[in-house]
Amino acid sequence: MSQNIQSNISKSPIVRYNKITKSFDAQIVLNELNLDINHGEKIALIGPSGSGKTTIARLLMTLETPSSGTIEVDGEQLWHMQSRGKLVRANEKHLHNVRKKIGMVFQHFNLFPHLTILGNVTEALIHVLNLSKAQATKKAIEILTRVGLQDHIKHYPSQLSGGQKQRVAIARALVMEPKIMLFDEVTSALDPELVGEVLDVIKGIAAQGDMAMILITHEMDFARDVADRVIFTDGGIIVEQGTPKEIFENPQSPRLQTFLSRFLKGHTDQVANSRIAAGIE
Ligand SMILES: Nc1ncnc2c1ncn2[C@@H]1O[C@H](COP(=O)(O)OP(=O)(O)OP(=O)(O)O)[C@@H](O)[C@H]1O
Ligand SMILES: [Mg+2]
Repeated sequence: MSQNIQSNISKSPIVRYNKITKSFDAQIVLNELNLDINHGEKIALIGPSGSGKTTIARLLMTLETPSSGTIEVDGEQLWHMQSRGKLVRANEKHLHNVRKKIGMVFQHFNLFPHLTILGNVTEALIHVLNLSKAQATKKAIEILTRVGLQDHIKHYPSQLSGGQKQRVAIARALVMEPKIMLFDEVTSALDPELVGEVLDVIKGIAAQGDMAMILITHEMDFARDVADRVIFTDGGIIVEQGTPKEIFENPQSPRLQTFLSRFLKGHTDQVANSRIAAGIE
């Protein structure tokens, strides 16, 4: 458990999902989900495909609206705000202020192709936070150095590898100094040899930051290394949660046991296949 959790235990959670239900037409994707995330806590979200992990992240980013229930960020309602002592529907300004506390990195990097790496990272600093170009550049170079891309600032996304592009996307989110970062399967579109460099960057951020992190991942070893708490979702609910040791070494529910054994089998097959391909067997 990181020190941050200890020191922040008395504060209200940085994120609270309160009885969140989300349906798409007749399909209930999340069913009265309750989830509190503490300041600085690192959460790994695992579960089968279609179990609603991305939807959990998109709701927090206000890219989806809940069918019912509420979400609080840093003690404030996401969709509502106080006005003259009454709770009213949030206006754009309120949403913008709450959203500023949240950064997200997606599976596909979503970089601006027509901007340089530096341009991609300074864009929101200049146009959202109203920093001067000089201030924004200084900040961006600091962050790009942290993710090992100081030599690429003048390049365009098309000139970078997938791993480098993903590190730019991480830098672009990080530079806004969010209180919560969401990483949604950020390595699943990468060639296997590029996965490590991106995970290492995220591990570095996790180790030093008092930022809360939600890591949606199929990389179980990574989840085990980085997370304070692992959450397993299936069928629209949290089926089981606990420390990485509890979840990976002593899973209680049959659904989690099946999920992990399938995953381990897939992993073993993958290793065997690559050994065969490499002519080892
Ligand atoms: N905009 C949408 N319109 C209709 N259905 C949607 C929409 N977004 C998600 N869904 C459905 O909601 C369910 C959960 O999707 P979600 O993307 O949250 O799953 P996930 O756990 O992230 O899966 P994966 O591991 O494959 O990324 C899926 O059945 C999906 O088809
Ligand atoms: Mg997803």
